[in-house]
Formats: sequence, C-alpha cells, structure tokens
Amino acid sequence: MLHLILDTDTAGDDTIAMLMALRASNAKLEAVTINCGNIDFDQQVENALYTIEFAGMSGKVPVYPGARHPLLKDWKTAEYVHGRDGMGNSNFPRAKQRPENRHAVDAIIEAVNAKPGEITIVEIAPMTNLAMALRKDPSIADKVKALYFMGGTNYYQGNVTPAAEFNIWVDPDAAKIVLNSGIPTTMVGWEICMRSGLLDRKEYTEIQRFGTKESEFFMSVNRQVLRFMKRAYGLDAITCPDSITMAIVLNPSIVKSIKQRYVEVDNVSEISRGATWIDELMILKRRPNVNVVYEASHAAFKDMLSRLLMGEKV
Ligand code: BDR
Ligand code: CA
Repeated sequence: MLHLILDTDTAGDDTIAMLMALRASNAKLEAVTINCGNIDFDQQVENALYTIEFAGMSGKVPVYPGARHPLLKDWKTAEYVHGRDGMGNSNFPRAKQRPENRHAVDAIIEAVNAKPGEITIVEIAPMTNLAMALRKDPSIADKVKALYFMGGTNYYQGNVTPAAEFNIWVDPDAAKIVLNSGIPTTMVGWEICMRSGLLDRKEYTEIQRFGTKESEFFMSVNRQVLRFMKRAYGLDAITCPDSITMAIVLNPSIVKSIKQRYVEVDNVSEISRGATWIDELMILKRRPNVNVVYEASHAAFKDMLSRLLMGEKV
C-alpha cells in the first residue's frame, strides 16, 4: 500500500489526479497540501476540499494550506488556462470540510517523520512547500520513500515560456533545492503530457458518453482547458499532466522508458527561468539526481483514466 502526500495548486487536472489517488485500491491519500500556482490561493484550497467531497471522502483527508508565494520570484497565475475558479468556471458549491490550521510545511515534516521510509510525495504544483520543508528539517530527505513530480521539459518547448514549464517556472529556486536534496525523484515532464497524456476529440467524446458523475466532472473542470488548447496550440484536445503523473505513481508499468540523469534547474537567468537541463549524454559527469521518464504508454494511461471516469476503483 502506497502512502501518499499530494502537493497541488488545485485547478483543472489537479482535481483528476486527486480523484485518482482517492479511488486507488493500492494507495492511501494521507494528506493534501496546497502550494501557490495556478490560481488564487484560497480558491485552490476550496477546489481541493470540493474534490474530496465530490469523491465521497469529506472529512477523511486533511487539506493543509501552505506557501502563498514562491520563495523569491514573482509569478503569474494561469486563470487563462483553467478559468477564474480554476474549475472551468463551474462555480461549484463550498465544501463542508474546512482546511486545517497547521501549515503544509509542518504537516509534510510531521507525516514523513511519523512514517520514515513510507511516504511517497506526489508533486503536481510548484515546489515551494517541499523546499521549505527540506530547509526546516533537512533530515526528511532520507526519510521520504520517493518523490514524483509533474514539471519541467526534456528538450521540449515550454508551456509558459519557450524554455519552461509552469510548475518549475513559478518557483525555480524551490525546484533547485528539491532536486538537489537526495530524495529518490522521478520526473514527468511537459513533453510526456503532450505525447502520452493528451486526449483528442474522439477520446474525450468517449469519456463524455460514459454519462457518469465522474465523466461530467471531468468535462466541467476541463471546459476552459479545451478552449485554451484550441487557441494556443490549435489542438482539439485536453491535457492531463497531473493525472498521467498520478497514474504513473499508482501503476509504474505505464512508463515505457526511463533514464537516471543529472537535472539542473535554471533559477538565474530571466529568459530561460525555470528551464530544466537534462544531461542526456552525461557530459557533466555529475551523479544523476532524477529518474527522467522518457516515454509513457498513452493506452495504459487512458485505460486507467477511463476506469476512474466510469466510476470504478483504479
Ligand atoms: C502544470 O501546470 C499547471 O497548470 C497544471 O496543473 C500542471 O501541474 C502543467 O504545466
Ligand atoms: Ca497542477
């Protein structure tokens, strides 16, 4: 059984990744922690609480608000992708469950120390909370079982600048701390989302036809993403970066190719802020710090997502 902490900037696909964790037969979602990222911070907290309630788990998974700002940099939010409320402007009702008073950073430290060697952290947001936790209690680096993160790009066009993917761009200083911490880390970059985590019209129409409350929820939270993808990429498609990352955590056989490489984050320059440089040829002769996913199975991911959206356990 996996013991998960999900760090999220809850909007759009973050909710589907969370739902997957809540419906997984081989995992227990121990806590959700919120990091600044996609949209207004308090709305992200509300979206996480709503998703837990939607999954029928109200009161069973604590939600800890964390960093409201990146460590050093200013950032811009991504309402232009996910809508004003981050949920495709669905304006869902306020959930009954309320956020915990404890800060996410302390919740992470406490959870890892309580179960050394057992906690897997799934990072689908900028890494501020995690970096702060590592600074506050560096001993947790040796106690986290594994970290999987959605972020960065592997020689692929970024989605927020030509060089960078959003999660790493928002807080490159935090990402640098985390990737150099020694935690066994796996990267699912933006290119994996574009190659294997994209649903075309035929596929999302299939999902729509399931007619379950889950498939309806999926279409609602992605409504705005569809419009954005058409506008920005000329594609009639939905992106699933966070849910393909969670699918890989729950079922590693979705990964078809993975390599241990040294990954460096650019936190210095302006034009390539947040770029992830992967030493593919191992030219730098530095110890690899990341397991980089090079290829994932679209069919296996879609199968898992479809089961989830049909209302089944995954
Ligand atoms: C990442 O940024 C956010 O908008 C998404 O939730 C995902 O985590 C994709 O770049
Ligand atoms: Ca996210």
